[in-house]
Amino acid sequence: MKLGIIGAGAVGFAVGYTAARMGIASDIKYNDIIEERAKAQAMDIEDASSFYPHYVKMSWGSYKDMADRDIIVTATGSLDGVRDRLEEYEMFKDATEAYVKEIVKAGFKGIFIVVGNPCDLMADLVYRASGFPKERVIGSGTALDTTRLNTTLCKLLEIDPADVRGVVLGEHGESQFVAWSNIFINNLTFEEYLKQNPASFSRDDVENLVRERAWRVIDGKGHTQCGIGNTVCSMIDAIVNDRKKVILVATLMEGMYGLDDIYLSTPCVLGKDGMEKAIELKLNEEELSRLKHSEKVLKANREKYK
Ligand SMILES: NC(=O)c1ccc[n+]([C@@H]2O[C@H](COP(=O)([O-])OP(=O)(O)OC[C@H]3O[C@@H](n4cnc5c(N)ncnc54)[C@H](O)[C@@H]3O)[C@@H](O)[C@H]2O)c1
Repeated sequence: MKLGIIGAGAVGFAVGYTAARMGIASDIKYNDIIEERAKAQAMDIEDASSFYPHYVKMSWGSYKDMADRDIIVTATGSLDGVRDRLEEYEMFKDATEAYVKEIVKAGFKGIFIVVGNPCDLMADLVYRASGFPKERVIGSGTALDTTRLNTTLCKLLEIDPADVRGVVLGEHGESQFVAWSNIFINNLTFEEYLKQNPASFSRDDVENLVRERAWRVIDGKGHTQCGIGNTVCSMIDAIVNDRKKVILVATLMEGMYGLDDIYLSTPCVLGKDGMEKAIELKLNEEELSRLKHSEKVLKANREKYK
């Protein structure tokens, strides 16, 4: 599988390195406006070739050189000095639109995975700029926030994270929320699990911890990497190996939850054709209204910088 990564910064590096470690790509090409950075990331990852499951061809190139990729991850943007991911829209929207058009014009026929923030609005932008069907433009949405929730709950409940099925919905940003009505511990509903195994914690605290987690990591080391690198590679793995795996990602809303014409997260089946099926969860009134709020926030931002 030929993987392209636009933006060879902290996130771009984490995605490329994790993909090489997992053996889910045979060829990885970086692009960055700072060419030396793209070259350096490719060479650094190549230096560990002896330790990967198989050889991975590493290179760097122009937007046009991305035409032959199977999957392109967009990881451009910067959280430097930013406290709300929406601020990145105005800063990076035009450049993202321009490079997506150039890549498509060069003949790219694969799948875009949009990670650069605000990733829901950027996925919406890539969808429009590329002219691709929605199945081939996937936003990472609240996939990372959901793994953060699973980790938080696994620590609180002292249970394997693989047995925690959490759901964070809404914007990958400040208006996100935990959909408590849809959390399962193994095969038990969250309520039933807690009835049998009481645990005392505040749901608001958990939600705030998950929302704040990125800023805590950024305050300490300047950027986030491991969570997003592995989250994106789980998406790539599902596509490359046609796993039909259900992952919470951002896709185009066309009536689901009463939402329309905006990218937002819902569980989606990912396989060889990209986003193959979107699944609608049964939400309560409060959750539906919080989802509507995220839609409003995103649409207002999109409108403001039209
Ligand atoms: N979706 C998520 O869950 C998630 C998680 C973490 C970070 N992010 C986002 O990912 C993006 C990257 O974060 P980072 O920490 O890697 O930032 P970074 O500053 O380390 O790296 C960004 C890189 O993109 C490059 N770049 C900028 N504009 C470009 C363009 N037009 N073409 C090619 N390269 C370009 C920069 O030169 C830089 O090397 C940000 O928008 C960040 O908010 C998203």
